Amino acid sequence: TGAFTFDPGFMSTAACKSAITYIDGDKGELLYRGYAIEQLATNCDYLETCYLLKNGELPSKAQYDVFTKTVREHTMVHEQLTRLYQGFRRDAHPMAILVGMVGSLSAYYQDSLDIANPEHRDVAAMRLIAKLPTITAMAYKYTIGEPFMFPRNDLDYSSNFLHMMFATPCEKYEPNPVLARALDRILILHADHEQNASTSTVRLAGSSGANPFACIAAGIACLWGPAHGGANEACVAMLEDLMAQGGVEKIGEFIAKVKDKNSSVKLMGFGHRVYKNYDPRAKLMRETCHEVLNELGLQDDPMFKLAMALEKIALEDEYFVSRKLYPNVDFYSGIVQKAMGIPVSLFTGIFAMARTIGWIAQWNEMIGDPEQKIGRPRQLYTGAPHRDVKPMAFR
Ligand code: CMC
Repeated sequence: TGAFTFDPGFMSTAACKSAITYIDGDKGELLYRGYAIEQLATNCDYLETCYLLKNGELPSKAQYDVFTKTVREHTMVHEQLTRLYQGFRRDAHPMAILVGMVGSLSAYYQDSLDIANPEHRDVAAMRLIAKLPTITAMAYKYTIGEPFMFPRNDLDYSSNFLHMMFATPCEKYEPNPVLARALDRILILHADHEQNASTSTVRLAGSSGANPFACIAAGIACLWGPAHGGANEACVAMLEDLMAQGGVEKIGEFIAKVKDKNSSVKLMGFGHRVYKNYDPRAKLMRETCHEVLNELGLQDDPMFKLAMALEKIALEDEYFVSRKLYPNVDFYSGIVQKAMGIPVSLFTGIFAMARTIGWIAQWNEMIGDPEQKIGRPRQLYTGAPHRDVKPMAFR
């Protein structure tokens, strides 16, 4: 059994070469195609970032116009797909609906199944970027029993999503530009993060030649877990729970539980596998968090006060400092989304919407890589040695 390196969690195994995203966890640095996340989040919008991740360079004005026009052409979904929603229980988790809906795209857009053709791969990518907001907003509308809203192609990507979420047939919704910009920033910050669990899942699924919609559905399934994309939802759930128990007064007791070796309670939204000093996305999201709370006049909301108190205590406490546990992007993104009126159960869906471009760019890179092989980890076998089957009467 000594033939393979035992590396649970792939802590020291590079499974691919990639030119898309660079992270230096010690420096707290995140680059998309060489550009610092701070500059992208400040100077570019989400669709520019998508273009960059997908094509390797930032777009010129002409390229950007063609790209956004193409996205707009694909925002609608097949009419029969809209009826699939009816098969789900109204109380289904939106992520359960998303996994099914995105997987089902392979039944509606069959030209995208020919992955050997780069043009078909490109159309699949554009469809995914364009349809994820529509499918995600429809999942929300379905669970609250409201009619689906058609996309509004006169709006930018994030404003259109807010329209599909919050407009109704009898009530127009004019997206607040501060909130639309905040959502756009959430999308930029979550667009890619090199070989995290869901991206590795997409690559592993894709390594068998599976179609892009199936691979992205696999990525969404992985993202749903609380240690990955579910963290912002888990973080708000933790804050709500603490509020119910008495709020700021109970922080000391809660932190003691988190620090107790015998308890499995974690401070959600803290810690990261790669960023061991700080998460550069968290710094940007923190800024946005304050902007949104000010815009909505929520600075004194008890839950947001609780979050800020928790952040302060945890940043000073020896347990967290010695383990280099800092707030990650999800600590703040959950708070921002809650303030914007996005239901907690949809947070991970918005993360999936944002990460779709990263997944598809990584998938496309893998398909075009001549060194690519089907993913096949090895194992160290710990089961019974070779033995004989006894007749049932003797077992
Ligand atoms: N609260 C309390 N203790 C923690 C936490 C936390 N959030 N995170 C890690 N620790 C402790 C852990 O118990 C261990 O302590 P000890 O050395 O005494 O056994 C030590 O810190 C090292 O932790 P680890 O589990 O080896 O760290 P990891 O790199 O395997 O885990 C993590 C990273 C993100 C899974 C973990 O920090 C965590 O579960 N955090 C909470 C969930 C969360 O916020 N996840 C979102 C990550 S950001 C989104 C993304 O990029 O996907």
